[in-house]
Amino acid sequence: MNTRSNMVKVAVVGGEGIGPEVTAQAQRVLNWFVAKRSVPMTLREAQYGIIPYLATGKVLPDDTAEAMEEADAIVWGATGGPETKEVPPAARKAGSLLGLRSKYDLYANLRPIVANPALADSAPLKASVLNGVDFIIIRELTSGIYFGEPRGIEMLPDGQRRGFNTEQYTTSQVRRVARSAFELARTRRNKVCSVDKANVLEASVLWREEVIALHQEEFSDVELTHMYVDNAAMQIVREPAQFDVMVTGNIFGDILSDCAAMASGSLGMLPSASLGPIDKFGRRKALYEPVHGSAPDIAGKGIANPLGSILSIAMMLRMTLNRPEDADLLEEAVSSALATGARTADIAEPGAKRLSTTEMGDAVLNALEMAAANEKERA
Ligand code: IPM
Ligand code: MG
Repeated sequence: MNTRSNMVKVAVVGGEGIGPEVTAQAQRVLNWFVAKRSVPMTLREAQYGIIPYLATGKVLPDDTAEAMEEADAIVWGATGGPETKEVPPAARKAGSLLGLRSKYDLYANLRPIVANPALADSAPLKASVLNGVDFIIIRELTSGIYFGEPRGIEMLPDGQRRGFNTEQYTTSQVRRVARSAFELARTRRNKVCSVDKANVLEASVLWREEVIALHQEEFSDVELTHMYVDNAAMQIVREPAQFDVMVTGNIFGDILSDCAAMASGSLGMLPSASLGPIDKFGRRKALYEPVHGSAPDIAGKGIANPLGSILSIAMMLRMTLNRPEDADLLEEAVSSALATGARTADIAEPGAKRLSTTEMGDAVLNALEMAAANEKERA
């Protein structure tokens, strides 16, 4: 067999803010898996954001667009920050993250929320609340109010301005993301909670009806519940361990996933995967990114937590490369680095030593070496 055809193409795009710093550590991890575990992938690094804009006039230069286009998986850092005001809105829109998600039809955004017991002391919620938290939010990512038309800001005859957007969902938009949720639930604890605002919004009435219909037709073995979004926000803080898979629309998922980040202990720890449709070759384009965003206040200081980005690589190993053992190995390495006290500033208990971004990368790589050696000994 031609080995080239087995090569998975990965585009690595650090972007803006703390994106390049954390992505550099994720890239070291990627290189480790290529060198030590023969994971069949080719990496292509590309720039995004203010730096290429100043050089080329484009936030998404042609080389980057090409790298992302040909990639099976994109490892994305972050976008945004105050200096991006220098980029005129039209140029920013031309290569925006929302535009990219839409261009590649990355409709299913998976955000796992897992509380690590080692971080109980630095977490904002009580240890008893965090006990056993392990769920995944699936956020619909390419429709809903973030993309709905009409939208705009208009001048009214009486001199006031009016801003407006459109929340909307079609049958197929709801069903395909609900399908992702049911299929994922079958590989976990077999529970789906669908979140909407069907007591007020027609778009949510349709959402709920379509989720129920799909469930009856194909997934009646999965336990399905429904929750209004305001209640869901409260339940995530009150008893996050009750959830397994939560599926919801674009704006609700955006808000609830930040809220749920606190039920994991830290926003800096959270990975995500955004998946497109499965093509005729069985491939599924995917973008992997930490949930934390660009964090401009700490950008360039070398203190950001790279674990959200590194754990996104574990999701990539599992979902794009189909290498569950390697994904487990990486997640175990992160857990053991944390268990031995490795902490960046955002997850440090008072008085704990604070590692730099690169030192946290070192800690994970050391833990990987040890885990791989233990594995060999066992074999
Ligand atoms: C996220 C972010 C983005 C979103 C922003 C940066 C546009 O908040 O990925 O959750 O709203 O989708
Ligand atoms: Mg968000």
